[in-house]
Order: sequence, then structure tokens, then C-alpha cells
Amino acid sequence: MRSLSRNDPCWCGSGKKYKKCHMENDLEAGKKKDESLIPPPGVIIKTEDQISGIRKSCRLVKETLDMVGERIRAGISTNEINGWVHDLIISRGAVPAPLNYNGFPKSVCTSLNNVICHGIPDDTVLKEGDIINVDVTCIVDGYFGDSGRMFMIGTPSGEAEKLVRVARECLYLGIEKVKPYGNLGEIGYAIEQHARKNGFSVVRDYGGHGIGLKFHEEPHIHHYGSRNRGYVMVPNMVFTIEPMINAGRYETRLLADGWTAVTIDDSLSAQWEHTIRVTDAGAEILTE
Ligand code: MF3
Ligand code: CO
Ligand code: CO
Repeated sequence: MRSLSRNDPCWCGSGKKYKKCHMENDLEAGKKKDESLIPPPGVIIKTEDQISGIRKSCRLVKETLDMVGERIRAGISTNEINGWVHDLIISRGAVPAPLNYNGFPKSVCTSLNNVICHGIPDDTVLKEGDIINVDVTCIVDGYFGDSGRMFMIGTPSGEAEKLVRVARECLYLGIEKVKPYGNLGEIGYAIEQHARKNGFSVVRDYGGHGIGLKFHEEPHIHHYGSRNRGYVMVPNMVFTIEPMINAGRYETRLLADGWTAVTIDDSLSAQWEHTIRVTDAGAEILTE
């Protein structure tokens, strides 16, 4: 991309002239963009008001996950987790985003053991040694926040524990790569390096996503592959990083319910997710 003149449309996609939008910011920050990088097509750069709304939604997501962490234990069903999450979010005048999203029947995703993501809460009862991802998304005043954590029930196998730990490390190594005018591809590259070093694989069929005004916005965030994908991170982009790490093969299989994604070889899978804002200096973790 050639460098912008004052009257060109801003690189952020706002539709405003550069001089009325990010020009002053860019000059002040003294940060020159890599001119071979472009903002991801369709990305929505958030305004300060939108950021405030998203921040509020993300805080409720965090609070909901904290609540789940205090109650989850062997003997409870994934349906009970769904009830806890649903009731807390509704009690705050907010909406659980998964409910009826493209026909999803519950208010939260619960992904147990070999389930990679989008597990549907049901009568399954948690037992000693299980690992489970709980993924919460809230809508507060129209703004979306999205985060998921792993929970260990009792003491899982050493391999399961390592998988949960490494998946979390992958998320934070990805977050460390978030910085203004950095290459989006750096995130997935860092994640895949760490997973492979530990003998694990990275799911390719699902990724992170822009978020805020809708559940899933542009861009798609890859958790694997080249560090040089050509798209640039810019201040006030908001997106999720949510690596799914498998103990065995990376391929996925979709169950007949049309939602539940499982590992093709029945190996364990772990996923952690945060909603992230690109700041003028690095990353703000909105769901932490
Ligand atoms: N929370 C998931 C994500 O991180 C999406 C769940 S969609 C649902 O993107 F319909 F399964 F809830
Ligand atoms: Co997400
Ligand atoms: Co999620």
C-alpha cells in the first residue's frame, strides 16, 4: 500500500478522510506502518464509546466464568452449568449470546475431554479426571464479549494437565504478539510453535474472530501457520484469540447435532479464549 495523503480514505476502513481520522494519531505515535501490510478487509475499528460498551460486556463474561469456577466439580451436569450461566447473565439484564445463535440450543458451550469446541450442555455428569472448556459470550447493551477457560475436575492424568497448561500458554504467547502495526500472522505462528514444541497439534478448522458489535466479525484469527499473512493490527481493533490444542491429530469431526466438534482420533483437546483490544502500545485483555 502506498503511503496515504491527507485526503485519502483512512486505512482503518472508517470511510472518513485520513486527516479526519487516524492521521494525527499515526504522526504522534511516530509509528510508520509497514507499507506492505493492509488492515483486514471488513474490520470494524471501534470508537471509544463502543470500546466502553464492549469492556462492560467482557467484565460480565469474566464474572460469569469466575462464578463457574467456584461451583464446578464432579457430580454436576453440563446442563447445570448452562443454568448457572444463563441465570447470572439474565439477572444482569444481559443476554447469553449462544442461545438461538444460528440455532444453538443453549446459553453456553461446554466442551468435555475430546470435544474441541461448541459442545452442547446436556445430562452428562462431570467425573473425576475430566477436563472441560466453558465458553461464555455475553451481549450487554448490544455489545459482545467472549471468553473461555479450562476446568480440571479433581486430578486429571499428567498428559491432560500438561495439555491444559500448554493451551493456556499458547493463548498468552499469542497475546504477547498483539501490538499496533504488527502482523496478525505473528499470533498464530507463536501459538503453533509452542504447541508443536510440546508434542501437540493446533486445530485449523476454527479460529478467533473480530468481535464487539456482532458475535463474529472480520478478521478471522488463525492459530497456526505463516507469520506473514499480510494483515496489520491497528489500534482499537477488537478480536478474540482462542487456540484449540489437541493431544493427537489436529483434524476435526462434526457430530450429527451439527455443532459439537470432536478430535478425529478421540484424543483430548483444550481451549482458552480472551477478547483482546489492540492499544497504542500492545494489548488490553478485556476479559481478564
Ligand atoms: N463462543 C464461541 C466462540 O468463541 C462461539 C460459540 S457459537 C455457539 O467463537 F453457537 F456455539 F454458541
Ligand atoms: Co470466540
Ligand atoms: Co467463545
